Amino acid sequence: IKEEIHKKKIEISKCKNKEYYDIKVGFVPTMGYLHSGHISLVERAKQENDIVVVSIFVNPTQFNANEDLSTYPTDIENDSKLLKQAETDFLFLPTPDIMYPKDSGYSTYVTVETMNEVLEGKSRPGHFRGVATIVTKLLLITTPTNLYIGQKDAMQCICIKRLVEDLNIDTNVIVCNTIREENGLAKSSRNSYLSNDEQIQASLIYKILETFKNNINTFSNRLNFINELTKQLEQNPLFKVEYISIASNINGLEIIDQFPPPKNSNLSIALFFNGEKRKTRLIDIIIL
Ligand code: PAJ
Repeated sequence: IKEEIHKKKIEISKCKNKEYYDIKVGFVPTMGYLHSGHISLVERAKQENDIVVVSIFVNPTQFNANEDLSTYPTDIENDSKLLKQAETDFLFLPTPDIMYPKDSGYSTYVTVETMNEVLEGKSRPGHFRGVATIVTKLLLITTPTNLYIGQKDAMQCICIKRLVEDLNIDTNVIVCNTIREENGLAKSSRNSYLSNDEQIQASLIYKILETFKNNINTFSNRLNFINELTKQLEQNPLFKVEYISIASNINGLEIIDQFPPPKNSNLSIALFFNGEKRKTRLIDIIIL
């Protein structure tokens, strides 16, 4: 892919009479089973770059033993169709063996040290080490001008911004808004684990978060707010809250005690949805 991007840059620089180093590459890493959330990142990348590269790779190192690596949904045919429609220039589709060759003694990982103590990092041991490692590898392969990621995965954004800055990677990180279903449910590949009825139930998460956001001044303190929000959500027997946090939108890790919290703080949530067929972990975030 490196060579192909290089060739395309030469081609564009010749036909647009632009310097080679002025050709902008936008990169969107994904794990596939694409939906309009992913495509919104591709479209933004398309607007802001000369070349758009998308990767699809279900990265084994970011799933821990209890998670859904083996059942993670895939549909390369439909993904390719959607990417073609969005006029993506390159689709990078590596295999686990290419990214983590077993026989060569692969043993390098990237760890963003601050990620493991709180929220997603605490709930999903090893997850961000896997994300940081694969994103670093993909950035080194595609050397993009701009990287596009979704705010829905708020801690992932913090992790990626941190590693790009700390490792002096010459890429701008661009965080894009969450795309939702009409009923408010944040689009996610994992929504496919839920039946249609269950997706309607799951859309309550966003609605309840919004209601609590709009009435935040009626709560006495942070704990009272979080407890009441948990209670309200868990009135639905399908919901089991894992965490709710109000954190700084600057580094996303600092829990904010001040109440009501400053404007633009992140209210984030992870909960288990006990569906008929399986338990699905859903996350969401809204900006206060
Ligand atoms: P994946 O879950 O496939 O998501 C790929 C990108 O799409 C991420 O940046 C994610 O935040 C963004 N995204 C997902 N749902 C979205 C929505 N509803 N609105 C807007 N953007 C959305 O996140 C990953 O893959 C992986 O961890 C990855 C970064 C590819 C590393 O393996």
